[in-house]
Amino acid sequence: MDFKDKINLNKLPQHIAIIMDGNGRWAKQQGEERIFGHENGVKSVRETVEAAAELGIQYLTLYAFSTENWNRPKEEVMALMQLLVHTISAETKTLNENKIRLQAIGDLKSLPQDCLHELNEAIENTKNNSRTTLVLALSYSSRWEIVNAVKQIAQQIENKTLSASQISEETINSFLCTASMPEPELMIRTSGEHRISNFLLWQLAYSEFYFTEKLWPDFRKNDFYEAILEYQNRERRFGKTSEQLIS
Ligand code: IPE
Ligand code: IPE
Ligand code: MG
Repeated sequence: MDFKDKINLNKLPQHIAIIMDGNGRWAKQQGEERIFGHENGVKSVRETVEAAAELGIQYLTLYAFSTENWNRPKEEVMALMQLLVHTISAETKTLNENKIRLQAIGDLKSLPQDCLHELNEAIENTKNNSRTTLVLALSYSSRWEIVNAVKQIAQQIENKTLSASQISEETINSFLCTASMPEPELMIRTSGEHRISNFLLWQLAYSEFYFTEKLWPDFRKNDFYEAILEYQNRERRFGKTSEQLIS
């Protein structure tokens, strides 16, 4: 079934976040090494980014590498970083053609030099694009982000530029990597795992979660549309009752 035509363009989420999972299992199914799965996941990234830009989704955040992923075998980590460097530099032209701005969240300083260099260059070269912002979560974990925010807030209190009683949700928000972004209304995870694996713990407080059995390298535009359609059929109550939403 083709889901694109069923999407209500007036009810699109502003921000969609995706945990791209299942590359390793996909490769194993083909009798290949895990990295083969990561390589094939690039096509799914391309399709999803293109679909988001075509629809005019403002923010698309992709969880590409977590803080915990540093604990994988060295060869896999190195291969992933090389794939990242290569993909970012190869895709910059397409990002510009589709008016997509690239941003990144996470402990970027921990990335290898060449990776950080390519990333910063692509961010700089796409900074004036305004159709869709593609946010790569790299060396990212939500607890790292929250600890980082708390440290900065504590520093301001030490400097006496902030007092404890002034701290609000907005204060905390402003110290997160996502400070300038709307909260994701929809979070998608592929590969049949039902957990958030340290991703955007604060920002996903009221997001709708969509889980699919598809492994990431099999994820295509129509799967993305299906998730948006399911989101549009949900009732978001934010603690209220159904009746309150109607009146
Ligand atoms: C997601 O696929 C990509 C990254 C975490 C970098 P995985 O590599 O986690 O694949 P599975 O979950 O082991 O199948
Ligand atoms: C989450 O996937 C991280 C990314 C998709 C980058 P993992 O495969 O690392 O998560 P767990 O270990 O299954 O929770
Ligand atoms: Mg996984």
